[in-house]
Amino acid sequence: MNMTENDKQSLSMVTCTAPVNIAVIKYWGKRDEDLILPINSSLSITLHQDQLKTTTTIACSRNFQQDRIWLNGKEEDISNPRLQSCLQEIRRFSRKRRNSGDSTSDVSSVSHKVHICSVNNFPTAAGLASSASGYACLVYTLSQLFGVESEQLSAVARQGSGSACRSLYGGFVQWKLGEQLDGKDSLAEQVESESFWPELRILILVVSAEQKSVGSTSGMHTSVETSQLLKYRADVVVPSRMEKMIRVIRERDFPAFGELTMKDSNQFHAICLDTYPPIFYLNNMSHRIISLVHHYNQYYGETRVAYTFDAGPNAVIYTLQDHLPEFVQVVRHFFPPEVNGEEFVKGLPVCSADLSEELKRDINMEPTPKGIRYIISTKAGPGPCVVKDPNHHLLGADGLPKKSAISD
Ligand code: DP6
Repeated sequence: MNMTENDKQSLSMVTCTAPVNIAVIKYWGKRDEDLILPINSSLSITLHQDQLKTTTTIACSRNFQQDRIWLNGKEEDISNPRLQSCLQEIRRFSRKRRNSGDSTSDVSSVSHKVHICSVNNFPTAAGLASSASGYACLVYTLSQLFGVESEQLSAVARQGSGSACRSLYGGFVQWKLGEQLDGKDSLAEQVESESFWPELRILILVVSAEQKSVGSTSGMHTSVETSQLLKYRADVVVPSRMEKMIRVIRERDFPAFGELTMKDSNQFHAICLDTYPPIFYLNNMSHRIISLVHHYNQYYGETRVAYTFDAGPNAVIYTLQDHLPEFVQVVRHFFPPEVNGEEFVKGLPVCSADLSEELKRDINMEPTPKGIRYIISTKAGPGPCVVKDPNHHLLGADGLPKKSAISD
């Protein structure tokens, strides 16, 4: 495409970033698959964007012929129904604002086609869900471009991917299941900000995974159809767990928070086994990590470390700052890595620690060399942000991806 100066001036462009979130009360199962309405509420912690984030640039211009999207450097099909829902919803909100005359931005652009370019700063191979940060970033960036301010933004992101609605806020976030048929009250809301519990630290243990597992969308569909345990969970277990989880977070009660987090992860994976045919997300390495955490906590007679697992074998560990160095050393000891130093522990620095012979003996596990590929060390972080510096736009003045956006 050859653009004249005039064409370039008609180009509006916005770049934003959005975080990943990890649930401690899991979302699993939809009551409405089109609107993505869940059968239970859920609660997550937003991870810091210094370690894990999606960056998205969206441009609109009257000269664009069609909506287009590039993900991690590759052009993808814009007709994806979930993508279309998000685009349509934001355009609808923008028109509504224009019609009510309270928009501050140039709303004529809402009828223009968009070019979307999005990259993650973490490898897809790490097996971390990128749909949450991806759709949150898409919806937030669109809202900035079209001047949409709405408490309903999380309902739009939800229609991209359920868990994405929680990535619109930082810190501790709940997604209330809501009651309405149209899903307007199925929204995310912040429980506490990212600065509420500064001692809380998070580790992602990336294990050596062989094959790709069943995706969450189809997995939870089969669970809804076949698991009786899932119904019990949604009706009986989660409502009281949500209340308790919010309480223990507000009290910064780590042992109670950790225990509830592990129980909820275990119940989610029990439901996967109760699904017919069963779904296996945990592998041998995940099971070893679970044992290690329980042996470690047993040694101290209190819950110092907690695990949670999503639709894959990687563990997410929650612990407090004070216990972090020793636990990382425990992981190094029982999963002797192939690489050392910063190659093994990426992200926020972790001090070194000595392990007592007694602790090693008490844990009493055979070491598994190279069982964990690397660790990402992080903490709770803020919600989506606008990137002001135009040098960071992923699209050039011609509206096409810059070379740097091809691989990040
Ligand atoms: C296990 O949000 O990826 O991570 O709504 O179909 O896109 P869709 O599913 P998705 O499911 C996430 C499931 C989970 C638990 C959680 O994040 O709450």
